[in-house]
Amino acid sequence: MGSIIRFGVSIEESLLKNYDRLIAQKGYKNRSEAIRDLFRDSLVTEEWREGKKEMVGTIALVYSHHTRELSRILTKMQHDHYQTILSTLHIHLDEHNCLEVLAVKGKGEEIKKISNRLIGTKGVKHGKLSLTTTGKDLV
Ligand code: NI
Repeated sequence: MGSIIRFGVSIEESLLKNYDRLIAQKGYKNRSEAIRDLFRDSLVTEEWREGKKEMVGTIALVYSHHTRELSRILTKMQHDHYQTILSTLHIHLDEHNCLEVLAVKGKGEEIKKISNRLIGTKGVKHGKLSLTTTGKDLV
């Protein structure tokens, strides 16, 4: 970990007050940690945008298990990408609906491609890719 530096920022008073209120609601103990998280989030978002670095994420899919062939298609897609899809969690939400959460690791662009295909599969009611980092390059 590098050394810590302090720097000054000019900002409108009302904006800072609103931000302080927001970070207090989120449970931050101080402004510095909240700002560090903002910086980290921007860096991770940029890594995703570039698409070349190894990243991790989760893909959540909600679908009806009655939809013909859908479970089989989703399972096949997961076998086709077994190196990227590390683990899956399947929850039977009710008599009809399933939630499947996939933990993924790989190049950002590859993860996005797989995610778009899964979410776009006919019969998937809703899907969401959540992006994060391997944590290697962040302090
Ligand atoms: Ni199920």
